[in-house]
Amino acid sequence: MAALELTAGDVVLDLACGTGANLGHLQGKVGTAGRITAVDFSSGMLDAARAQAEANRWTNIEFRRADAARLELPPESLDGAICTFGLSAMPGELEAIKHMAVALKSGANFVVLDCKAFTGVARIFNPIAGPVFKYGTNWDYHKDVIKGLREVFPEVGVREFNSGCNYLAIAKRKQDRSLARRKPTNQMVQE
Ligand SMILES: C[S@@+](CC[C@H](N)C(=O)[O-])C[C@H]1O[C@@H](n2cnc3c(N)ncnc32)[C@H](O)[C@@H]1O
Repeated sequence: MAALELTAGDVVLDLACGTGANLGHLQGKVGTAGRITAVDFSSGMLDAARAQAEANRWTNIEFRRADAARLELPPESLDGAICTFGLSAMPGELEAIKHMAVALKSGANFVVLDCKAFTGVARIFNPIAGPVFKYGTNWDYHKDVIKGLREVFPEVGVREFNSGCNYLAIAKRKQDRSLARRKPTNQMVQE
């Protein structure tokens, strides 16, 4: 959440939001003046996320059922975007990353928390862990999400956890020095 560098009133996207585990944290960052778009391909996941929002009376969240690889968003409309454990579990993740790069404002961050193969000594587990997780969770160990982020974003910082099998990647949209980072307007949100 800190890596998103959000402030109150910002516009943020939660890609592959699932049941809405990130929504309360995002609310805490953007406040009631901010706006959150929560996207998932599964209507069941979205129903659960929507129920959480209703229970908490969060009225500033738009829920969208969409394939992340075909997501239409207004260019330069987001102050930040996050995807937790989504990109490695979906087809067309490179397209999804490209959509994020277009939709982010200059200097804004796309924050990705995800899984990958073990590194170091723990990599001896990869021949077993990869197929087991692919079968059990849809996670595709053949995908190289970090490489995809680096193809699309000029600046990507990566921090690994848990013997390399989890990572936090912070991809920064190129800073256009002629533009100050723009604040959202209702018009941009509704486009
Ligand atoms: C492991 S869950 C993560 C959910 C949530 N981000 C979290 O951290 O709890 C992966 C999510 O990706 C969604 N998903 C899979 N393919 C997708 C796609 N093509 N477009 C959008 N969402 C997708 C699934 O429906 C699921 O909710």
